[in-house]
Amino acid sequence: MRTRRVAWGAMIFTVAIDGPAAAGKGTISRAVADRFGFRHLDTGLLYRAVGVKGGDPATAARTLLPEDLTGTDLRTLAAGQAASQVAVIPEVRAALTEFQRRFARAEGGAVLDGRDIGTVICPEAEVKIYVTASPEVRAHRRWLEVGGEEAQVLHEVKDRDARDMGRADAPLRPAPDAVLLDTSTMTITEAVGRACALVEAALSARKRAGGHG
Ligand code: DC
Repeated sequence: MRTRRVAWGAMIFTVAIDGPAAAGKGTISRAVADRFGFRHLDTGLLYRAVGVKGGDPATAARTLLPEDLTGTDLRTLAAGQAASQVAVIPEVRAALTEFQRRFARAEGGAVLDGRDIGTVICPEAEVKIYVTASPEVRAHRRWLEVGGEEAQVLHEVKDRDARDMGRADAPLRPAPDAVLLDTSTMTITEAVGRACALVEAALSARKRAGGHG
């Protein structure tokens, strides 16, 4: 897909993409960022890096370095579970908040995907999308990537949903004004197309209103 060449330089514009594990957030976010020339932050990676670092999770979050985000072990099911476990700790979330907020509101446009972007990190985001799909569909997609026992992958997906939705601090839920995107029966192209159309509409509305940033 071609990047839209527009001078976004002085513009602050945030696209918040939240949803449960393996719903398609990452793929959609990267495609939206690419299409509009926005920066992209996969916030799950921050929690994964804290989860695999070991030691005290709050200290790990406070001392996180860019190189911690490059580990090849961050994409595994185990890292996802570890991330979900440290993500319930309020001190961990607090330590990662400021960085995410600055990324979201820096000039040039940003796409952030995670669990609490539209509800906690950037409630003022210009576009909020809640991407979801049935647990079975999500588990199947994840199983195609990681292999192993599909029933075990489904169990882990459900386990992670329960923890991410049930925690007291910043639980996973759609922001009241988020657009729901159920990708259960959509192709990637369709899902990306819907998300891009929402961004396009918000950018056009801003242009009509005469706002540039
Ligand atoms: O998106 P992901 O699967 O990489 O996220 C891994 C875990 O990190 C997820 O189960 C919960 C946590 N997380 C979070 O609590 N808040 C975010 N904004 C992103 C991820």
